[in-house]
Amino acid sequence: MASSHTQDLGVSLGTLKLHNPLIAASGCYGYGVEYSDVADRNDLGGFITKSISLEPWKGNDPPRLTEVSPGLLNSIGLANMGVQRFSDEIAPQIVGGKAKAIVSVACKVMEEYEEVVARLEDVEGLDGYELNISCPNVKEGGMAFCLNPSLTEELVGRVRKRSSRWITTKLTPNMTSISEGAKASAAGGADAVSLINTLVGMAVDWKSRRPKLSTITGGYSGPPVKPVALAKVWEVWNAVDIPIIGIGGISNWKDVVEFMIVGASAVQIGTALYADPDLPGKIVSDLEDFMRSEGMNLLSELTGSLNTDGGAMVGVPK
Ligand SMILES: Cc1cc2nc3c(=O)[nH]c(=O)nc-3n(C[C@H](O)[C@H](O)[C@H](O)COP(=O)(O)O)c2cc1C
Repeated sequence: MASSHTQDLGVSLGTLKLHNPLIAASGCYGYGVEYSDVADRNDLGGFITKSISLEPWKGNDPPRLTEVSPGLLNSIGLANMGVQRFSDEIAPQIVGGKAKAIVSVACKVMEEYEEVVARLEDVEGLDGYELNISCPNVKEGGMAFCLNPSLTEELVGRVRKRSSRWITTKLTPNMTSISEGAKASAAGGADAVSLINTLVGMAVDWKSRRPKLSTITGGYSGPPVKPVALAKVWEVWNAVDIPIIGIGGISNWKDVVEFMIVGASAVQIGTALYADPDLPGKIVSDLEDFMRSEGMNLLSELTGSLNTDGGAMVGVPK
């Protein structure tokens, strides 16, 4: 029998249940197999693969990664092996564990999203899809589907018809109203929304006067984007009823708690995994300590618990 002192980190994202709220973010965890020697995948509630397209993509020319202080700027351009090789070689290795296996899908046109999902339907054991409609680093597709809510609704609706699996839509902060994107996703039949993808950013070498990325601009991620991401999650929490997965700059347990307080049911960890692939295991044990010290049994109680009654906090933050 469960004692009153157990810490339950489980969360529900509609039909998808995770044993903890930590999900590895797309593009920061390979295809789900690469980290096996350095970290236990089952420390995660789930993981999202690198975005998969219909045909293999070679991505943008180098340089396509540059560290900025602080944070990371990338223009990988969704380089990936394509759905066929992924289904044949990778997918069978990532299904069936404690961590839910979610495939990110990114394509140039709607028909390709439908086709990729249709082919992935043949792979047994996958737990769902994240529709990446928010990549700022590709010429075709990319953010275009997200910037226009009617295209978002149509795309999600078309994919929804191809699959009964769990679907989340990944939204961009690079739009005027992210809540319109979230509403469109819900209207199209998405089970959840994931936010945020990277912010458009740029880095320049003052001496040579050259851009530091081949594509000139790229996607900005890491700890500095957290306040932007928190604000977007809060905005979307107030706009839709489907679960929100918070993403952006998460690198410790307090970040997780803060995202849940403003409305996230689960979170994704991206850039921080590059520095420490074993981070999820550490965050889980820190979250358990936090729950113990707060006398909390259910972590999911945090979701949407922001206290706005008395206005903002006063005093020196710890
Ligand atoms: C190198 C790199 C590659 C990425 N590739 C993808 C991708 O293929 N698909 C996707 O949806 N997001 C991709 N992202 C975005 C992340 O999943 C995440 O939304 C973003 O980095 C913000 O979270 P973070 O600050 O924790 O990194 C990538 C991010 C980085 C840094």
